[in-house]
Amino acid sequence: MEKIIDENKQGETLVVEQKEGNKRKLFIESYGCAMNFSDSEIVASIMANQGFNTTQKLEEADLVLVNTCSIRDKAEQTVRKRLQKYNAVKRDHNPKMKVGVLGCMAERLKTKFLEEEKIVDLVVGPDAYKDLPNLLAEVDEGRDAINVILSKEETYGDISPVRLNSNGVTAFVSITRGCDNMCTFCVVPFTRGRERSRDPQSIIEEVNDLWNRGYKDITLLGQNVDSYLWYGGGLKKDFEKASPIQKATSVNFSKLLQLCAKAQPKMRIRFSTSNPQDLTLDVVETMAKYNNICNHIHLPVQSGSNRILKEMNRLHTREEYMGLIDNIRRIIPNCAISQDIIVGFPTETEADFQDTVSLMAYVKYNFGYMYKYSERPGTMAGRNMKDDVPEETKKRRLQDIVDLQRIHSEIKTKEWLGKTVEVLIEKQSKKSDAQWSGRTPQSIVCVFPKGIYEVGDFVNVKVTDCTSATLIGEAVGLSPS
Ligand code: SAH
Ligand code: F3S
Repeated sequence: MEKIIDENKQGETLVVEQKEGNKRKLFIESYGCAMNFSDSEIVASIMANQGFNTTQKLEEADLVLVNTCSIRDKAEQTVRKRLQKYNAVKRDHNPKMKVGVLGCMAERLKTKFLEEEKIVDLVVGPDAYKDLPNLLAEVDEGRDAINVILSKEETYGDISPVRLNSNGVTAFVSITRGCDNMCTFCVVPFTRGRERSRDPQSIIEEVNDLWNRGYKDITLLGQNVDSYLWYGGGLKKDFEKASPIQKATSVNFSKLLQLCAKAQPKMRIRFSTSNPQDLTLDVVETMAKYNNICNHIHLPVQSGSNRILKEMNRLHTREEYMGLIDNIRRIIPNCAISQDIIVGFPTETEADFQDTVSLMAYVKYNFGYMYKYSERPGTMAGRNMKDDVPEETKKRRLQDIVDLQRIHSEIKTKEWLGKTVEVLIEKQSKKSDAQWSGRTPQSIVCVFPKGIYEVGDFVNVKVTDCTSATLIGEAVGLSPS
């Protein structure tokens, strides 16, 4: 999911169209993964019905909500700093301001938050947003309020999110919540609970609605999308107990992709994230069959060492992963593949690290997101393994693979030189107001002179130049598709 994270500005203040008659002001900002940004849109929708319009000015907010991330220690530190900022604003400018913490840190720290951070009035976990109106009533009466109950059912499928800070072209659609994979380094199963899937009907309705409102490119979101399974509701792990009819009419991820692709044949459909152990070839074949399903798979590998993969509880080997890559490339030769990699997982030796390097050389990812291991309290690795790779070593290993990835990205980007690609225009280029910026189906960013085109147009672009990560070209006309 990190690809998408980086496209969102972390901590961006979210603004939404204002609802008439709403008197109170909400300042809401999000950190972390795409799911958090998507959840904030659900929260804004709930708050709009409670009389809140959004504002970008902290100084005038009646309520500040910060949607938080726990994935690495650094993410938590960022939020702590924001709380200090709210504290200063409250003290100096806005004594009536109330502050609520949402998301993964709320879930992880629970009441500790109220004790540790005096500024916090409200703590709400990722499955409890529908309780916000009740919690807010408590806060209005001067009491702290908290709900961090994780749910077996909640998917927010019935809430239509308000699109915050949207370019009007791309949107996220949540399809699963939680994760059952229990990778030993990861806090997500603890903060977002057990895995459950959203009713396909409500997903399709959201996709149709987005198309009708002008959106052209959606990303189906989940911690582990390939494990999507709808059989009438309930946890993924309880599927075995479902009735024969429920089983026969169940919808898995490749089926869901087909339903979405067929519902809106012109809508670009993306998804994130795929765990290699759950990505099946029928998904890849479905991608190949439907033109509007984008040829990009974000396929985090985390490590190239079989021993480390096992310690991480990633349920595949290096060889199986390479086999999967071969199959993807056989079925979809131009499919972009991106990675997440962690260096410095406990006990990682130089030889283990070199296995990661050689795996990268084998795959040659289009792009990727690389991290130093950050011990998370409560996880299996946090409890049972010593964080024993020295910081200096972690840093050096990270730099090595970041450099290697840059070389691979450049090789992959150069393959497009001279070709014509279909670009959906998303926004003005950051570097020049005379250029548009958009993405190809492979998620490669492409910039080109604006000409007669508009945001939301599908344009064929001839690639004439590139940097390591960006295609540079000239529009040759609207794409007929
Ligand atoms: N469910 C998704 C995303 C999980 S978090 C997936 O399976 O990919 C996104 C990325 O953060 C992970 O892929 C991993 O590379 C990184 N990450 C997670 N926990 C981490 C930790 N404790 N330290 C460093 N990186 C971590
Ligand atoms: Fe985390 Fe592994 Fe799930 S990285 S979100 S436990 S797939």
